[in-house]
Amino acid sequence: MSDIKSVLVENRSFPPSREFSESSRVASTEEYEALYKRADEDPEGYWSEVASELHWHKTWEQVLHWELPDAKWFVGGETNLAYNCLDHQITKGLGDKTAILFEGEPGDVRKLSFSELHAEVCRFSNALLGMGVVSGDRVAIYLPMIPEAAIAMLACARIGAIHSVIFGGFSAGSLSDRIADAGISTVITADGGYRRGSVLELKKNVDEALEKTPVERVIVVQRCKNEVNWDNERDHWYHDLMAAASSEHQAPALDSEHPLFILYTSGTTGKPKGILHTTGGYMCGVYQSTKLVFDIKDDDIFWCTADVGWITGHSYVVYGALLNGTTTLMYEGAPNHPEPDRFWELIAKHKATILYTAPTAIRAFMRWGDTWPDKHDLSSLRLLGTVGEPINPAAWEWYRERIGGNRCPIVDTWWQTETGSIMVSPLPGAIATKPGSCTRALPGVSIKIVNREGQPCDTNAGGFLVIDKPWPSMLRTIYGDHERFTKTYFGEIDGVYFAGDGARCDEDGYFWVMGRVDDVINVSGHRLSTMEVESALVSHPQVAEVAVVAKPDALKGQVIVAFVTPMGGVETSDALAIELRQHVAKEIGALARPEEIRFADALPKTRSGKIMRRLLRDLASGTKVQGDVTTLEDASVLSALAAQHDEDSDEA
Ligand code: WT7
Repeated sequence: MSDIKSVLVENRSFPPSREFSESSRVASTEEYEALYKRADEDPEGYWSEVASELHWHKTWEQVLHWELPDAKWFVGGETNLAYNCLDHQITKGLGDKTAILFEGEPGDVRKLSFSELHAEVCRFSNALLGMGVVSGDRVAIYLPMIPEAAIAMLACARIGAIHSVIFGGFSAGSLSDRIADAGISTVITADGGYRRGSVLELKKNVDEALEKTPVERVIVVQRCKNEVNWDNERDHWYHDLMAAASSEHQAPALDSEHPLFILYTSGTTGKPKGILHTTGGYMCGVYQSTKLVFDIKDDDIFWCTADVGWITGHSYVVYGALLNGTTTLMYEGAPNHPEPDRFWELIAKHKATILYTAPTAIRAFMRWGDTWPDKHDLSSLRLLGTVGEPINPAAWEWYRERIGGNRCPIVDTWWQTETGSIMVSPLPGAIATKPGSCTRALPGVSIKIVNREGQPCDTNAGGFLVIDKPWPSMLRTIYGDHERFTKTYFGEIDGVYFAGDGARCDEDGYFWVMGRVDDVINVSGHRLSTMEVESALVSHPQVAEVAVVAKPDALKGQVIVAFVTPMGGVETSDALAIELRQHVAKEIGALARPEEIRFADALPKTRSGKIMRRLLRDLASGTKVQGDVTTLEDASVLSALAAQHDEDSDEA
C-alpha cells in the first residue's frame, strides 16, 4: 500500500433533480438520510425487506451468518436468479414487454420479449442438461455482445452451473489460464463477433486455448458465418442444440449460497483472481442498486454500454435490468463505427432513457467533438451514469451539458468486481451531485476512510477506502484460493474489507475516490496488474528484466509504461519496441498493450534488490524524481534513465 496524497478540487454542486424528487423511490435528502440510518442500525432488517421483494422457493431461516471474512446471506433460503429475471416478470404481467433490445454492429436489430427470452433460456437450459452439464459445473462464456451471451448466462444460472464469462478481447493464452483455473467443462463461443467492421475470430482463439487445456464440449453460436475449424467429437452448433430442445423447463430451487459465477479480475500478482459470487445475496444487491440508483421506471430503455465480460455487464446489462423488469439495450460493437456518433444514433433510434458508460468513453466523445452528439435527438435520455474510474470534472460537466442537456442528473457509481453491485452513488432524486465525487454510500452499505491502522481519517484527508460491514453481494472467495481471499481483502486492515482504493471524505460526507493504492493499473476502466504485464514481457526471448508502471493519461486515465532491460547482445530498436507491445497483446489481449516501451541497461534497485517503482513512476510521468533515493543501489542507473527521458522529450 502506498501513501495517499489528497488533492482538493473545486467543489461545485448540483441539487437533486426535481423531476426525480417527485416520483423517485428515495425522494429527498431527508428521506435518504432516514433510510440510510435505518439500514445502518439494522442492516439485516433492511436487507431482508429487499429480499422479500423477490421470489424465493423457500424463505431463509437466518438473514446473515457472519464470521469474518466469511458471509452467508439468507441462510437456508432457496431461490433461482433466472426465475426471478424471467418467470417472475412474466407472472407480473410483463411477458410481452421487450427484455432485450439488441443492435449488432452491422445494424441488425433483434428484440426479445420476456416470454421469448424465457423460452430461449429454457431451451438452452435443456440443451445443457441434455449434454450432461450439471449443477456446480463450470461453464466458460466467450461470446460477443449478442443476446446469446445473456441467454447462456441465464441458462447457467437457471440450472445451477457456474458461469465464467471471459471478455472477447482476451487472448487464447488468457482464455486457457482461466479455463484451467476454473476447471471448465464446457465453453460457449461464437464463430466470430463484429468489431470496427472486421470479424473477431473467437472460435479460433478457443481452438488455440484448448490445445493446452482441453474441455469436454464447445458450443458455437453462428454469428458471422465465417469459416471455422471443427472437431466433431467436441464441437456443437448452438442452433442445432436449440432446434432439438424443449422450451419447457422448471427452474430448480437453489440454495441462497449456491455459487453463481466466477469472474476473473486482476490483482497485485501475475495471476488473475477468480472472484466468486453466490446466488441470493448477489441477486438482492444488483436488484436494489439498479432500482435505487437508476430510479427505474416501467417504460425505461436502459443502456449500460459495458461488455458482459466485465462485472458491469453482469450486474447491469443482464441481471439488474431484468430483475427490475426493465428493457435492456445491448450493442455489439465499437462506439465509433462506422462514425463517432454511433452511440448517439443508437440512443435516438431506440429512445434510450438511461445511459451508463465509462469516463474514458466520455473523454473520447469530447475529443471527437460536439458536432457528433449535436446531430441527434437525445431528448429521450433522463439519467446518465458513469463507472470504472474517477471522472475528471471537465468530462463530467461536458457529459451533463452536451449529452444530458443540463437536464439529466449524473450518477457516478463506485464499486468493484468484488462488491458485485454499486456501493457508492448519488440517488438522483435525493442527493446533490458534485463533479468528480461518487457522493454517498447506498443504504445498507457501510464505507469508511481510514489510515493504515484502521483509524478514521479527518475530513478531506486521504486514506484507504474500506467497507466495515458485510453486504449481500460481496464476493465469497477467490475460486480455489480462499487464503488469498482472506489475505487480500481482510488481511490489510484489521476487521474490514480493504478495497485497494485511496479516497477522502469531504465536509458533506461525500466520497472522492482517487484511484488504486496497489499495483493495479486502470487503463480505460479496465483493471490490469503490473505483474501480469511484466510476466508477459519477460516471456519474450529478448527480454532480461522488466518493470511496469502506470502513467497518467488524459484520455485513458492511465496507460502502461514498461521499462525493459534486454538480454545481453540484443540491439534495441523501435522495431523491437513494437514487437514487445504486440507480444503483450498476443499474450494477454490488446487491452494490456503497453503505451510505451523504454529500454534501459539496468533498472533502479534498492540495495536489497527491490525495483524502485516509485522512481520509475515519476520518470514515466515526466515529473521530477521526488523523495528519498538514498536506498538506491546504483545511482548512475537513475541518471542514465533520466538522461534518456530528457532525450526522448527533446525529440517529441
Ligand atoms: C476499480 C474496480 C465496478 C465496475 C467497473 C470496474 C475503480 C470503479 C469508480 C468510480 C473512481 C472507480 C476503482 C475500483 N472504480 N468505479 N466511480 N470512481 N474509481 O470494476 O474492474 O473491478 O475495478 O475501478 O479503482 O477499485 P473493476
